Amino acid sequence: MKRSVLIYIGLSLLGLALLAGGLQAAFLGPAEEWEKSKHNNKATTLVHATVEARSAGAAHCARCHSEQGFRAWLPQLLAGNPGPIAKPDGSAADVPFLQGLGLTQANAQPITCTACHGEGFALRVQNTTPLLPAGFAATAVGKGALCMTCHNTRNGRITWNTEDPKRYTAPHASAQTDVIMGKNAFFLDDTGERASAHGVFVRDSCVSCHMTLTKAPHSFRAAENNCANCHGPVVTKEFVQQPITELHKRLKAAIEKRVLAVKEKITTVRAYDPAKATYTPNVAVDGKQITGIDITSVGGQITFILKMADGKEIYSQLGDIKDAPGDPGKVVFATADPIVRAAWNYILIKYDRSMGVHNPTFTREMLLATLRALP
Ligand code: HEC
Ligand code: HEC
Ligand code: HEC
Ligand code: HEC
Ligand code: HEC
Repeated sequence: MKRSVLIYIGLSLLGLALLAGGLQAAFLGPAEEWEKSKHNNKATTLVHATVEARSAGAAHCARCHSEQGFRAWLPQLLAGNPGPIAKPDGSAADVPFLQGLGLTQANAQPITCTACHGEGFALRVQNTTPLLPAGFAATAVGKGALCMTCHNTRNGRITWNTEDPKRYTAPHASAQTDVIMGKNAFFLDDTGERASAHGVFVRDSCVSCHMTLTKAPHSFRAAENNCANCHGPVVTKEFVQQPITELHKRLKAAIEKRVLAVKEKITTVRAYDPAKATYTPNVAVDGKQITGIDITSVGGQITFILKMADGKEIYSQLGDIKDAPGDPGKVVFATADPIVRAAWNYILIKYDRSMGVHNPTFTREMLLATLRALP
């Protein structure tokens, strides 16, 4: 009798230990995966989402670059205001208010478990997003609605057929939701339904491919053999990425051709130094020596990297490329120049970072429409 009781107790303890081990593994799993993910990149949180780095401007970036900012912003977003973090009375957040939220070098947190999860690991956003900073909402997108709240271009809704956007604004680094929902491209009518099946008919959109179908959901990386899950073993990401890369390169070549055609007008820029993150005004440039360009964004503005014959690269925001030295100079590329809208589209696809996979048909059609607009 006694012996079997002892064995019973022994087995129970073993069972409990195994259970505890299992539970621990289940919880260590997400934590370890998350630690390796960029959501845990505190460096960008500290430079974008703290009052020391950005003063009251942290109210802009902290929305998506910190746990505290996101949690403070969410109720306001759900109430219909996607703008920078405001105080409860609706006025703009000031430094003391942001300090109170913990948006300081000492306390700011990156995109932690509690940024995304509430009580009992419930997701803070699901199924449908409110009006996003990118100027549209995403409806019936399952758990992906959470990701879309941050992963959008954040600069308002563009008018696809405008003749003059009147700005040089670039899409933000997180263009995925605009692309997957088929929004915010110039030259292609984006007012109807252009959402990808990948955005709206794979149950949880982003979460299906970047979490549910992967072995390490909280690394947030798309599964290696992602396509095979739904399309069979033959289909790979290159099926889409190869032709889209070809069109994307053609678009860069078309923009570059137009720059080279007027290169002699370029005489002055406000140069940006990517290593030091500083600007130098009134830098003289010998436009004749420009051999090519690259297209990126700096400080939220469309930026050209001018490649010079001597191998140097000069970065300048588009609105700072002038035809005469000093402040009176005229911009070489006015906001109405189609090159500005084409550069927005080019960056939209670059910053989506799936090279067409998120929305194959939309990506192809908008690249073709942009090429047609740049004869
Ligand atoms: C960027 C947002 C995000 C972050 C950060 C995040 N999670 Fe999650 N988590 C999710 C989503 C989305 C799911 C649902 C995945 C699915 O359905 O396949 C999930 C699922 C889970 C689940 C399963 C819950 C259930 O009800 O099935 C657990 C447990 C969990 N997360 C724990 C954590 C922990 C612990 C951390 C921090 C180390 C963390 N998560 C960080 C988004 C996030
Ligand atoms: C609407 C949400 C949102 C807002 C607001 C926002 N960001 Fe971001 N930002 C993101 C997301 C999401 C990414 C990641 C994109 C990716 O990896 O594809 C990102 C990426 C970046 C990156 C590139 C990160 C890197 O080092 O690779 C920089 C730089 C950046 N943001 C700066 C800022 C600054 C500065 C502000 C405020 C002026 C800001 N962001 C406001 C969502 C946002
Ligand atoms: C609170 C805002 C926020 C939410 C919600 C969010 N992200 Fe992010 N995500 C970011 C930011 C900010 C970065 C870039 C951080 C950096 O580069 O420092 C990022 C980066 C990423 C990256 C790039 C990872 C890498 O290693 O290059 C992926 C993939 C990603 N997020 C997917 C997701 C998915 C999937 C979801 C939904 C489950 C999600 N994110 C939800 C803000 C968010
Ligand atoms: C059909 C599956 C699928 C869906 C749905 C999906 N993605 Fe992706 N995503 C991919 C693939 C595949 C890549 C490219 C990976 C590569 O080239 O290695 C990618 C690339 C990315 C990247 C670049 C970083 C990385 O991990 O390579 C980010 C960030 C990202 N997706 C975020 C999102 C967000 C946010 C959503 C929802 C708005 C989303 N994705 C929906 C499959 C998907
Ligand atoms: C979670 C399931 C899922 C995954 C993973 C997935 N797809 Fe899809 N895909 C779909 C569905 C559903 C459709 C719409 C079905 C249809 O049109 O017959 C679709 C449609 C497409 C289309 C048609 C293009 C369009 O714009 O309508 C292409 C191309 C495609 N997928 C390529 C890929 C590639 C490449 C990958 C991997 C990188 C991938 N898919 C991963 C579910 C998925």
